[in-house]
Amino acid sequence: MYTDKVMENFQNPQNVGVVENANAKYMVGSPECGDIMEMTMRIENDVIEDIKFRTFGCAAAIASSSMATQLLKGKTIEEAMKLTNDEVISALGGLPPQKIHCSVLAEEAIKGAIDNYKNNG
Ligand code: FES
Repeated sequence: MYTDKVMENFQNPQNVGVVENANAKYMVGSPECGDIMEMTMRIENDVIEDIKFRTFGCAAAIASSSMATQLLKGKTIEEAMKLTNDEVISALGGLPPQKIHCSVLAEEAIKGAIDNYKNNG
């Protein structure tokens, strides 16, 4: 059901946890399944210096957040706002159709965290 990339990111997820001194954070829940994802970042001069997640959800959600954080570390917030769940899915080599909503969670958590940074900054 899952690609090797998904399994790799599920079994050995990158950037798990909470960023110390985070200045951007957001928690989002999926209306489809009730799972929850939290994203924290430390942003300096509009660049994402550090990014971590905690996902209380399925394998696809964990793999999507792991992949999204890897794609975004060192990127500007402008670039991060353009990241779509389709790009995360392609980087994972695909997701089963019934698991697309899990990757949407990562996109929403990232955008929410950046909005939180902008509103507090
Ligand atoms: Fe809930 Fe995947 S089934 S996030």
